[in-house]
Amino acid sequence: SPSDPNLVERARAAREKLGSKVFVLGHHYQRDEVIQFADVTGDSFKLARDAAARPEAEYIVFCGVHFMAESADILTSDDQKVVLPDLAAGCSMADMATAEQVAECWDVLIEAGVAEQVVPVSYMNSSADIKAFTGKHGGTICTSSNAKKALEWAFEQGEKVLFLPDQHLGRNTAVRDMGMSLDDCVLYNPHKPNGGLTAEQLRNAKMILWRGHCSVHGRFSVESVEDVRARIPGVNVLVHPECKHEVVSAADYVGSTEYIIKALEAAPAGSKWAIGTELNLVRRLANRFAPEGKEVVFLDKTVCFCSTMNRIDLPHLVWTLESLAEGNLVNRIEVDRETEQFAKLALERMLALP
Ligand code: 13P
Ligand code: SF4
Repeated sequence: SPSDPNLVERARAAREKLGSKVFVLGHHYQRDEVIQFADVTGDSFKLARDAAARPEAEYIVFCGVHFMAESADILTSDDQKVVLPDLAAGCSMADMATAEQVAECWDVLIEAGVAEQVVPVSYMNSSADIKAFTGKHGGTICTSSNAKKALEWAFEQGEKVLFLPDQHLGRNTAVRDMGMSLDDCVLYNPHKPNGGLTAEQLRNAKMILWRGHCSVHGRFSVESVEDVRARIPGVNVLVHPECKHEVVSAADYVGSTEYIIKALEAAPAGSKWAIGTELNLVRRLANRFAPEGKEVVFLDKTVCFCSTMNRIDLPHLVWTLESLAEGNLVNRIEVDRETEQFAKLALERMLALP
């Protein structure tokens, strides 16, 4: 829906008043009405780096979800304030791994006699607690754009990886990029005793995948890939690695949101693309590339927006910017010192990957 002109005007006025005191980051899955006010847009890896590179901004307004704002807080200095325009903008995948569950899992690995060989690799889409666990146990964070490098690094440090919390990114990267087989991976279910695994299974596994997934990307299906191929002859199917392994296997290309955008930029006129990622981004890309004669469609008509990403809308952004302009610090995301210290270790290992 087109943005309310009154709200657009108010957002502009508040931004102007704040000047260089505020820096607005926008994830690719954000609504158009929000993205128009972002100083930079990006995938979660790019935004983490961009946040760290703005020491002069007093306020970092993060238009994205909670774990991204936490990561920005961890990577920025103590006097910079990270603000999330709606505190209810969480991530269902990040919520699938709690600190208690992960501590319990580590005990299971100790009990099975494998913990010493295990390096944790945690997807950016996790709480600061999980990142701190990862840092404490010698592991690294990864995003969908550097998961391969993170796994290569991890297998130089140890023989096994505990991959948290997205089973699909973990499995897809292990099998597609690292030459492992599906049998090298086991699924740890935090709701079952011992994760539903025997000590022998844990000893034989190379990849211990946490049983988490993205509620948006997990809904794309092989049928949707087959349907679009039948409907649009010659279509290129490009999906995000948070999709299920069978969907990724049926697709032509796989990559992070930043990769998807670059692939479309490089695509020749007349080419046709079906994209399996969040709908706000796909719609924006369809509009952007239509004038160049590139046809971009959404892979599956039944999959919808990421509801938590969509919580950040123009009214929330206006309220946030106006509050900050009036000197009211609202919706600050602040990670406690001890968690921050270990989470930062894990994030810095990621930033140092080749
Ligand atoms: P990227 O931005 O790393 O592609 O991740 C997608 C995502 O689901 C963010 O929530
Ligand atoms: Fe979380 Fe999936 Fe939404 Fe990303 S798209 S914020 S992983 S629920």
